[in-house]
Amino acid sequence: MKHYLQFKDFTADEYAYLFERAALIKKKFKSYEKHHPLVDRTLAMIFEKASTRTRVSFEAGMYQLGGSVVHLTTGDSQLGRAEPIEDSAKVISRMTDLVMIRTFEQTKIERFAAHSRVPVINGLTNEFHPCQILADIFTFIEHRGSIAGKVVAWVGDGNNMANTWLQAAELLGFKVHVSTPRGYEVDEKLASGPSGPSAGSYQFFSDPLEACKGADLVTTDVWTSMGYEAENEARKKAFADWCVDQEMMAVAKPDALFMHCLPAHRGEEVEADVIDGPQSVVWDEAENRMHVQKALMEYLLLGRVA
Ligand code: CP
Ligand code: NVA
Repeated sequence: MKHYLQFKDFTADEYAYLFERAALIKKKFKSYEKHHPLVDRTLAMIFEKASTRTRVSFEAGMYQLGGSVVHLTTGDSQLGRAEPIEDSAKVISRMTDLVMIRTFEQTKIERFAAHSRVPVINGLTNEFHPCQILADIFTFIEHRGSIAGKVVAWVGDGNNMANTWLQAAELLGFKVHVSTPRGYEVDEKLASGPSGPSAGSYQFFSDPLEACKGADLVTTDVWTSMGYEAENEARKKAFADWCVDQEMMAVAKPDALFMHCLPAHRGEEVEADVIDGPQSVVWDEAENRMHVQKALMEYLLLGRVA
């Protein structure tokens, strides 16, 4: 049994399979062709933080695969009343076939997985957001072909998204130019791939403009992630120069793409003319969450089917 708790849980070969499978599943969806490999299977979705895309993409995706879903939040389950995570894992995984969790510390999802009878998927933790990077790389491939050897510029917080990009770079052979304000750097230990911290797959820039030079993809995220709201005012000051604007896009490659996992704050981490401009692929990126996660759920429950 496999879990998907961090990007480095899968090999490059498994990712090649998933990207191909997601393309096929997307094609079927677009042509209204039924694809029901998960009939009678149930996905439990546990949300301890808010969500729009993750909820809709997993829920719609599971129904489209022929299965069904159960939706739990901290507020409407015993999870919010201090039932031990281990007990919750044992119970939920006896009644369902697959579990997706969005929570705070990575250790929480690891404890759940350790006591689960069924595969567990990380739907975002403070440390990682692997389903999002799966969608982002799939979107890059759709628009530009293989990401191997390419340069991704990460502008902003050294957060769950940044950590996951760095794991992906080491695994799939591309480079990340990271620019964060001082004090908000990525945690190198968390961000390292299966072979440990690799200096070759990322480079730090104190100036975000320098990080964007020659990039094939410029990407950013909110200045304040969920769970860090108390730091909002301090972060607004610290991140003021880490706003992706036309000047940054102009020094990237002429055909560079712009991505943002969303939700976005126009005028903070990105200017409206960039996210709503011709280089932005954020709507494809959001939609692709569903297609890659359908491939992921099928893979975790049935293995390779092609
Ligand atoms: N990108 C993403 O995970 O969005 P939600 O928070 O809406 O799920
Ligand atoms: N880094 C953001 C991503 C939201 C999808 C957060 O964790 O809130």
